[in-house]
Amino acid sequence: MTTGTSIQGLHPAIATPEVQAAIESVIAGIQQAQSTLHGVRGPDPARQASAEKVIQAYGEARGRGLVFPLMGSGLGRGALVELTDGSVKYDFITGIGVQAFGHGDLDIIRTALVAATGDVVMQGNLQCNEDAANFAECLLAGAAKDGPRKLAHCFLTNSGALANENALKICMQKTNGAPRVLTFEHCFAGRTTTMAQVGDSAGARQGLALNLEVEHLPYFNAADPEGSTERAVEQLDHAIRRYPGQHACLALEPLQGEGGFNVAPRSFFLPLMERAREAGIPVWFDEVQSFGRTEAMFRYQWLDLEPDVVTVGKMSQVCATLYTPDMNPKPGLLSATFIGSTASLRVGRRMLERLQQEGAYGEDGRHARLHKAFRRFAEKLVQSSPSHFPSMHDHNSPAELDEVIGGAGGMMRLTPYGGDGARIKALLMRLLDAGVIAFSCGHGPFHLRFLPPVGVLQEADIESVLSIVSDVLEDGS
Ligand SMILES: Cc1ncc(COP(=O)(O)O)c(C=O)c1O
Repeated sequence: MTTGTSIQGLHPAIATPEVQAAIESVIAGIQQAQSTLHGVRGPDPARQASAEKVIQAYGEARGRGLVFPLMGSGLGRGALVELTDGSVKYDFITGIGVQAFGHGDLDIIRTALVAATGDVVMQGNLQCNEDAANFAECLLAGAAKDGPRKLAHCFLTNSGALANENALKICMQKTNGAPRVLTFEHCFAGRTTTMAQVGDSAGARQGLALNLEVEHLPYFNAADPEGSTERAVEQLDHAIRRYPGQHACLALEPLQGEGGFNVAPRSFFLPLMERAREAGIPVWFDEVQSFGRTEAMFRYQWLDLEPDVVTVGKMSQVCATLYTPDMNPKPGLLSATFIGSTASLRVGRRMLERLQQEGAYGEDGRHARLHKAFRRFAEKLVQSSPSHFPSMHDHNSPAELDEVIGGAGGMMRLTPYGGDGARIKALLMRLLDAGVIAFSCGHGPFHLRFLPPVGVLQEADIESVLSIVSDVLEDGS
């Protein structure tokens, strides 16, 4: 970001007028290149064959192809991304929410360019530059808002699964090696051997030697708020009675991501948290997917709840485990070579600053307004083609709007075809051809999942994407 003529963040010895002019010249060159991106565009026949060859070779190198046969070319603008085959598409999944400021945001690129003038690419736990301290400070300040720092500590790492591993280790040490984990149906926690056991997906632990005792409580059901809360509390009580002193934590996603963008209110979590606390069980909020993108920076703030441990990732660029002084583990429990790259530390911090400065949060903040716009366009779409939106409970009746439109803030979901997984998978491929990259979530019913670039998203982008969805739904009927 420029202030007057000087670019912030450069080492004083490097911040010569020549270096700064060179950085601005790179930015101007990128801006010029972006001016060719106006909207969805089909592939360029001259680039298609070589693009396919690389995608195929990479699939062979990985031992299995990519979910979507596509790769970014390195050029993009906002919600639009150019692919290596020359096509331009709306990116409404952004690497599962990582590119929160979309493609080619010039302020973000400038931040990364400045980071690249530093002396190291990767930073770690043994040696780091001030970037790690600045990023941690930004997260902790955001976690406290203007109040006291209850989550006073944060340990940085480079994946959501590792942030979760650290959270579980902290909880286990606090409970003297308690071997059990309480969590929820449909949760996802990452793909380490341990997190694959916490997550509620059978496929993710196929062939693994299971060594963790995990109990999956029912999650909140908006169609039966009181009943689902009662059932979860009852099962929690049972588990605590059955295994007193054996639970390391109550691990919960305050808004489930992979499980289907399932939103739950404060009144669901509060009694569960109270019971866990009474039994001496620490409460860990996994906000890896929901962090930053709903109506508050942290979901626990929006719900006005106080977890002992919180994990964040994806749009933060660098992942982290935050915890209270009471949970601070003994030396030796947490470390690793890498924290992240200089660019990811700088860009992560810049994104968090911008989200706050640009009014992302609050009841009438940008994220809440974008979600309302999504609902408005989605309602129009559902009402104009009710046959594509049958109820998930009775495929012969049209669905209620709240059944097929969901999420919060920049987590947006739509459920056509009664949540039929095979039809939604085919729809995603047709959408890709028509110029929209999206994904699914849920374990049945399945949903269309959008994690658009909230930091730069315009209502017009949502309108264009839902209009493409509408055309593609009609084509596949
Ligand atoms: C809630 C949640 N926790 C943890 C993870 C794992 O994060 P990562 O893929 O960065 O390891 C994810 C990823 O989707 C997630 O959604």
